[in-house]
Amino acid sequence: MGHTMKWGTLPPKRPCLWLSQLLVLTGLFHFCSGITPKSVTKRVKETVMLSCDYNTSTEELTSLRIYWQKDSKMVLAILLGKVQVWPEYENRTITDMNDNPRIVILALRLSDSGTYTCVIQKPDLKGTYKLEHLTSVRLMIRADFPVPTINDLGNPSPNIRRVICSTSGGFPRPHLYWLENGEELNATNTTLSQDPETKLYMISSELDFNMTSNHSFLCLVKYGDLTVSQTFYWQECK
Ligand SMILES: *[C@@H]1O[C@H](CO)[C@@H](O)[C@H](O)[C@H]1NC(C)=O
Ligand SMILES: *[C@@H]1O[C@H](CO)[C@@H](O)[C@H](O)[C@H]1NC(C)=O
Ligand SMILES: *[C@@H]1O[C@H](CO)[C@@H](O)[C@H](O)[C@H]1NC(C)=O
Ligand SMILES: *[C@@H]1O[C@H](CO)[C@@H](O)[C@H](O)[C@H]1NC(C)=O
Ligand SMILES: *[C@@H]1O[C@H](CO)[C@@H](O)[C@H](O)[C@H]1NC(C)=O
Ligand SMILES: *[C@@H]1O[C@H](CO)[C@@H](O)[C@H](O)[C@H]1NC(C)=O
Repeated sequence: MGHTMKWGTLPPKRPCLWLSQLLVLTGLFHFCSGITPKSVTKRVKETVMLSCDYNTSTEELTSLRIYWQKDSKMVLAILLGKVQVWPEYENRTITDMNDNPRIVILALRLSDSGTYTCVIQKPDLKGTYKLEHLTSVRLMIRADFPVPTINDLGNPSPNIRRVICSTSGGFPRPHLYWLENGEELNATNTTLSQDPETKLYMISSELDFNMTSNHSFLCLVKYGDLTVSQTFYWQECK
């Protein structure tokens, strides 16, 4: 019983109550924002486990109110052992209700970056819920571009060869350069696109070169502070 994993899909029954709790929690968050939370880095599509860092017993668990929020938006709430998940996290969040309450978020998105706070409230002797525990974790989501691939597009004209360099699924906005011996070359038909849903970018660029001499081309993609590159060698053909 202790380690049951549950899909939290309970619909909200009393929206006004949720709203007032949200405001209370927002206040709490600002009050405590002097604390530097620990930080976790994950990649898009990965899974993260966030723990409340609070040891309790299975018996006590049902009397607690547990809230997870990201920045000042609600993620999940557990009241009297019932789980409610907010739409952005619906169908990809698992609550692990055991002696150390925690949540697992699957299929991470770029938009999941932020500071997650677990708030635990416990009833006092009069039955009034008081803040018992609060912990924050900063989650950073990375989206790295894979090493670019370079493909042959054949001969647009005699002695001229065309190749295309491309990579996709990264963030932030990339720039692509073609270099030979450290000098930038003129690329043709560079295209950049962004998936409106995932916000991830795709970039490609073509290069035409003279086949009658040897070449060593570097296709370099820069995004944020990072770069990925691929080298393409051409041996003259006579
Ligand atoms: C919670 O329990 C685990 C093992 O049961 C222990 O290692 C950990 O130190 C405890 N944490 C706190 C805050 O009591
Ligand atoms: C979650 O899954 C249920 C059942 O498959 C579906 O009806 C609902 O629309 C899904 N919610 C989201 C936010 O994807
Ligand atoms: C690149 O294009 C510019 C403008 O079209 C041209 O002036 C320059 O000579 C070209 N450079 C190379 C290396 O072809
Ligand atoms: C430019 O590149 C895009 C995508 O790679 C391709 O669909 C299009 O045909 C290219 N246009 C030219 C003029 O080469
Ligand atoms: C390719 O290079 C050779 C030798 O440098 C030159 O004679 C030829 O005109 C070039 N071809 C084109 C299409 O630029
Ligand atoms: C081109 O590369 C080949 C193989 O590495 C080499 O044998 C040849 O001498 C090179 N040609 C020139 C002009 O450097």
